[in-house]
Amino acid sequence: MDVAVPILYIVAFGLFIYGLSGLTGPRTAVRGNIIAAVGMAIAMITALLTVHHNWILIIVGLVVGTALGVPSARQVKMTQMPQMVALFNGVGGGAVALIAWSEFLSSSGFTGRPAAFIIASLFSAIIGSISFWGSLIAFGKLQEIVSSSPIGLGRAQQAVNAVLLVGAIVCAVIAGMGGASTLWIIGLLVLAGVLGVMIVLPIGGADMPVVISLLNAMTGLAAAAAGLALSNTAMIVAGMIVGASGSILTNQMAKAMNRTIPAIVAGGFGGASVAAADDDPDKTVRSTSAADAAIQMAYAEKVIVVPGYGLAVAQAQHAIKEMAKLLEAKGVEVTYAIHPVAGRMPGHMNVLLAEADVSYDALKEMDDINDEFARTEVTLVIGANDVTNPAARSDPSSPIYGMPILNVDQSHNVIVLKRSMSSGFAGIENPLFFLDNTSMLFGDAKSSVTDVTEELKAL
Ligand code: TAP
Repeated sequence: MDVAVPILYIVAFGLFIYGLSGLTGPRTAVRGNIIAAVGMAIAMITALLTVHHNWILIIVGLVVGTALGVPSARQVKMTQMPQMVALFNGVGGGAVALIAWSEFLSSSGFTGRPAAFIIASLFSAIIGSISFWGSLIAFGKLQEIVSSSPIGLGRAQQAVNAVLLVGAIVCAVIAGMGGASTLWIIGLLVLAGVLGVMIVLPIGGADMPVVISLLNAMTGLAAAAAGLALSNTAMIVAGMIVGASGSILTNQMAKAMNRTIPAIVAGGFGGASVAAADDDPDKTVRSTSAADAAIQMAYAEKVIVVPGYGLAVAQAQHAIKEMAKLLEAKGVEVTYAIHPVAGRMPGHMNVLLAEADVSYDALKEMDDINDEFARTEVTLVIGANDVTNPAARSDPSSPIYGMPILNVDQSHNVIVLKRSMSSGFAGIENPLFFLDNTSMLFGDAKSSVTDVTEELKAL
């Protein structure tokens, strides 16, 4: 067993890394996921081989985890995936915090434990608790149980957060230096938990993807620290992989939104929801019909499709492919402009369009296509809103000012498919909808695309 365990762990880590490399592209992502999951199964079985007690508790834990995890993962809708990630990530952070608590209890306040064990345990307890409670709030915001608008204490926020952090560290130092009372570890977990809530509540909806990725990275680091304390190589390696990849993803997403991590944590991105155009007489909205939209596109040389979250809600990906096929048969060049945070998770649009077999070559990243809009006759915006909002470029008072957007407004004609004048995730008005070159085709995206397709067939 002494030889088998490290070998099995090395096989598992190799599979993690090989699987992860598959996640770099949609073609290999599913296979990558399966490979990494096999690696995790091997790591779990290996860890179980080294356990010599508490089998009943372990089996109960496995049964409860499987009973809760498998059905929810099978039933979750694509559009609810970010909430799911937030929840599962939070559970990981919570589990790590509980490990630290149980180690504290089983050694009567870390009695006789080496300093490295104590420091790693206390670190994982603080970060794990922040991550658990922060992730629950992030879940609530995405699920719209908690308002996605920033909720905070204004100027006092940073001071309150600092007091909570110092309080948690003081409890950790006292517990680490022999304070055997359970109150110290509970105090630490509670203060860190409140801090997690206080960090995420003031963050506006538009920053939520970056926050979830940040919390994910924190959970990874906490798990690695718990692995150090327990001398469990699998936890150290898996935790570091999650911590490192989560940190890279967080950085890339923040860059895509032209935000810094400290600015995100300081909060306030995303405003209150707007339901409809206000009464400003200068703002007029032009609506169009499926027949007119079909004519405009059929006689264009080039059409750019801009998919957004509404495409996922309407499940319009197959209908779009069908419409694009007809346009291409008429000699129209159809490309798809993909914003890095369109939808509700990284790569959301790529996954949906891949499901409908849209060619990867037709998908263009924001930086590669942004100059093309000015040379394009028709841009068809399907259920996208925030990622097309020109206020991000031109209005310094806008809450999303500075976020890179698709330059849809520069297109000769813009047709927007959505159900109403409602705002998108950031809860702010989109001036694109009131421009002279924009017309709105109101209705569910799938029905509208199907209607346009029928009109194209008739042309
Ligand atoms: P949003 O700004 O959220 O806008 C989506 C639009 O789709 C809404 O305005 C909605 O308008 C419309 N819609 C909803 N259901 C529809 C349906 N059945 N048919 C037609 N339209 C429908 O989407 P976006 O432009 O993709 O931007 C993404 C936003 O989500 C950004 O603010 C981003 O920061 C945030 N976010 C992104 C992620 C990631 S990682 N991608 C994760 C969490 C949050 P109606 O209600 O009027 O139809």
